[in-house]
Amino acid sequence: MYQLKSVTKTYERRGKTIAALNETDLTIQSDDFVAIIGPSGSGKTTLLSVLGGMLAPTSGSVELDGKSLYEISIEERTAIRASKIGFVFQTFNLIPWLTARENVQIPLLLTNAPATEQCDRALEMLERVGLGDRTDHRPSELSQGQQQRVALARTLANNPRVILADEPTGNLDSETRELVLRYLSEFQQDGRMIVMVTHDEAAAAYANRKVRLVTGSIESLSMVEAA
Ligand SMILES: Nc1ncnc2c1ncn2[C@@H]1O[C@H](COP(=O)(O)OP(=O)(O)O)[C@@H](O)[C@H]1O
Ligand SMILES: [Mg+2]
Repeated sequence: MYQLKSVTKTYERRGKTIAALNETDLTIQSDDFVAIIGPSGSGKTTLLSVLGGMLAPTSGSVELDGKSLYEISIEERTAIRASKIGFVFQTFNLIPWLTARENVQIPLLLTNAPATEQCDRALEMLERVGLGDRTDHRPSELSQGQQQRVALARTLANNPRVILADEPTGNLDSETRELVLRYLSEFQQDGRMIVMVTHDEAAAAYANRKVRLVTGSIESLSMVEAA
């Protein structure tokens, strides 16, 4: 569970101060699928980065499962990120010279699991997203939708309890978009928390909760029925 209290983030650029998040209070339950919606520049990526332990807020507190993410050492925060949090990006962020299997294995490299076990886990996750027959393909040999599914498999590799996704369907056609959203719903049903940034209302319909950001402020919280 996340608990954000009075979280503010300002950026300093050429003597100007940009307030990207204003006094944000937000609680996200462990089994929530939250869609963060809002126009470009409203602070969505900033909020996701703060949740992911990648960007310290200027003020306020961010707790994940009762632990204050920015009042611990960098080492401790890195360990929490590696064990609890998975990331999905609009641009997939796959490593071009590695195969699908090798890309999925990346989060496992930091664990002490034997190489064969890491390999088996990667293959299992690729099966899970329907890519059991593409394990030796490189990203350039896969469609956009397949690349995002490899990225989903990579996210699952270390079995994170929290998945943070920034516009995960932004570069996909409508068919693969739906597939990726269905996988995210499945991952929620596995018992994971999903926090997805999107400016697509149809994508947000897959969430059980919507948070709207308007110039750094949470404007409305509404509960919606899951699609
Ligand atoms: N590293 C940065 N330095 C300065 N300003 C930034 C930085 N990152 C984001 N901003 C500004 O903060 C605001 C929120 O950005 P962002 O969180 O990326 O919004 P969104 O993801 O909703 O498009 C924008 O005005 C943006 O220009
Ligand atoms: Mg963004």
